[in-house]
Amino acid sequence: MKKVKVGIIGFGTVGTGVVTCLMENGALIKSRTNIDLILHKIADIDIERNRGINIDRSLLTKDANALINEVDIVVELVGGTTFAKDIVLKALSAGKSVVTANKALLANHGNEIFAAAEKYHADIYYEASVAGGIPIIKTIREGLAANNFDKIYGILNGTCNYILTQMSYNNHSFEDALKKAQDLGYAESDPSLDIDGYDTAHKAAILASLAFGDWINLSSVYVEGIRNISLDDIVYAKELGYSIKLLGIAKKVGNDIQVRVHPAMIPNGATMASINDVYNGIYIEGKPIGGTLFYGRGAGMAATSSAVVADIIDVARNLNSSSSLRLPAFTSQKHYDKFTQMADILSRYYIKINVTDEPGVIAKISTILGEENISISSMLQKEVSEIFKPVPIVIVTHSTFEKNMISALSRIQKLSIVHEKINLIRIEDI
Ligand SMILES: NC(=O)c1ccc[n+]([C@@H]2O[C@H](COP(=O)([O-])OP(=O)(O)OC[C@H]3O[C@@H](n4cnc5c(N)ncnc54)[C@H](OP(=O)(O)O)[C@@H]3O)[C@@H](O)[C@H]2O)c1
Repeated sequence: MKKVKVGIIGFGTVGTGVVTCLMENGALIKSRTNIDLILHKIADIDIERNRGINIDRSLLTKDANALINEVDIVVELVGGTTFAKDIVLKALSAGKSVVTANKALLANHGNEIFAAAEKYHADIYYEASVAGGIPIIKTIREGLAANNFDKIYGILNGTCNYILTQMSYNNHSFEDALKKAQDLGYAESDPSLDIDGYDTAHKAAILASLAFGDWINLSSVYVEGIRNISLDDIVYAKELGYSIKLLGIAKKVGNDIQVRVHPAMIPNGATMASINDVYNGIYIEGKPIGGTLFYGRGAGMAATSSAVVADIIDVARNLNSSSSLRLPAFTSQKHYDKFTQMADILSRYYIKINVTDEPGVIAKISTILGEENISISSMLQKEVSEIFKPVPIVIVTHSTFEKNMISALSRIQKLSIVHEKINLIRIEDI
């Protein structure tokens, strides 16, 4: 039986989960694969802290660099894009295979890292970087390898999905739902990476790069988070038959692609609309497969460690059969001609405008929309009891170019009858 030495760098949440899984399921994995995964060393800057699991303390080291030279597989679970990048490149250049869960690292430096893997003929596996418990990287690279992909819609951030679910089902304000997520450990004390959409953007860029070929720069991805979603929006969405989700969207339209992250209204009847709480969901459309949906836990110690250990097993199998790079780190397929700018996307829109309740208001707004070639699909206006209080008008449009919508909104915003900033949410008919 082949023995494969594994070294883990970063003994935090995921590192602890991976060590636990290797200890608890090591025998099962051995019987299943005929490979003995030896946990050789665990490196962390803090090797005194109690991690809540019983391990042989001689496995712990502060010297990540030395660990790289002693093992067959380096597992990077430090996070961040500085030290993590150094050790991943160092491991690959030493011909060591790497497993990482680090989406920020790959989204920012995937090009360089994958090139190093090819150059030094070493594997880099990264299943846990997107939607932890859902094996979506393997699915795109292997299970769906025969497909020409058209569309990916992903609910990729459990924190945002939890907040939107709490707003939708328990009528919490955004602030209360965020506080609840923080109390439960679903959101960081500084939640900006999640709620401003950047975590979803990292994952969307990785998925789109894999599906469409050619590395997609993070700077090309439009990113908008969920801070501007109010309880009112959630209530109006329900009334109109929609749910609001933060989506990572990658689409091929003709030979052009678009990758964007923003809150979107999706029809309540769509299966994606019922993916709630901290769960993730990914819908992929391709030819010949058609539409296919994946669902599961996106983060947390358990789901993430399952993905990391699966990668360790894959890499160990490749080492065992001398077939590293059996799956290239990344294949450039050059399946698209250009990147669609946001101004040129076609979408349906929900807009909420707070206006003075007086005659002629709707005429003024619909005239501007008409002049910008935007056609109204439906409209809601609620009665309010207090005189002179601004009233919300909610308009749903037919499909139009974003540049027309932006131009119309900037004109409507300047009308004296309009109070507060107009809120816009894109509608995706998944
Ligand atoms: N947590 C999740 O649910 C999840 C899900 C998917 C992917 N991921 C990814 O998995 C990776 C790890 O996440 P995590 O949640 O496990 O983070 P974490 O709990 O913060 O663990 C990181 C560990 O690395 C240690 N560390 C930091 N700098 C180091 C250095 N220079 N040398 C050695 N050790 C160092 C940290 O020590 P200190 O604590 O002392 O700084 C900490 O123990 C990240 O890339 C993350 O994006 C996490």
